[in-house]
Amino acid sequence: MTGKQRTALVTGGSRGIGFGIAKALMMQLDMKVMICGQSRETTERGVAQLRALAPGGEVDGAVCNVRSDQAVRELVARTVERFGSIDVLVNSAGVGHFGHVAEMTPEVWREVIETNLSGVFYCCHEVVPVMRAGGGGYIINIGSLAGVNTFAGGVAYNASKFGLNGFSEALMQDVRYEDIRVSYVLPGSVYTDFGGGRRAGKQDWALEVDDVARVVVDLLGHHPRSLPSRVEIRPSKPPRKK
Ligand SMILES: NC(=O)c1ccc[n+]([C@@H]2O[C@H](COP(=O)([O-])OP(=O)(O)OC[C@H]3O[C@@H](n4cnc5c(N)ncnc54)[C@H](OP(=O)(O)O)[C@@H]3O)[C@@H](O)[C@H]2O)c1
Repeated sequence: MTGKQRTALVTGGSRGIGFGIAKALMMQLDMKVMICGQSRETTERGVAQLRALAPGGEVDGAVCNVRSDQAVRELVARTVERFGSIDVLVNSAGVGHFGHVAEMTPEVWREVIETNLSGVFYCCHEVVPVMRAGGGGYIINIGSLAGVNTFAGGVAYNASKFGLNGFSEALMQDVRYEDIRVSYVLPGSVYTDFGGGRRAGKQDWALEVDDVARVVVDLLGHHPRSLPSRVEIRPSKPPRKK
């Protein structure tokens, strides 16, 4: 993955952690970047912000609901058409809906599992053949510390993120000899709109999106023989538990 200008596809790149990663890939690694969100408004705004931050950089955006395998197929085709290859895939699109198992509707359960887990499968399913054709690549899945720590109200979210760990590790075994590396990053609390709004006071201690983006940039800087497959990153001083 050296020489030519590399291309990244960042799902959930319209806002939050995905946006921070897209920004870092453009500004620090001079990559061509395709972002997606599920809303036209946020996706267009994200592209405009990235263009303003990195004038002369190549960025495009597409509306794509990653819960739809057909929409993901179109997203990947559009990315290849626009930039010619996909060297890096970052799966950051995700939702957080929380609630007691007895009160959570099947619709909400499906939204969480289909976005956070099936959506990642659809993206990898479409992108791996593109990476193979290009001689390799790097896939980075944004998991969560909720993928290793359960909590009340987390039935859907915990299940999606625990599942993503298993998916990421099996994916790594599937593609490692095809020169495709897979890592998954497990952040603790990050200051974004995730899960229904920025919580008051969270900004004082939470991670910033740039902290997670730095992990992604560091991973991409590793020698091809080296694969830090799972990275946990947490706020160093969260509020003490009472
Ligand atoms: N924030 C945290 O504290 C935290 C901690 C650990 C892990 N994470 C994980 O980090 C990832 C990103 O979270 P975030 O904090 O950046 O959240 P965010 O600020 O709410 O942004 C979510 C992003 O995902 C996109 N998205 C949601 N559903 C989608 C769908 N069905 N199809 C396509 N795009 C979709 C959103 O697009 P729109 O703009 O169109 O809505 C947006 O770009 C998630 O996987 C989350 O589980 C977050």
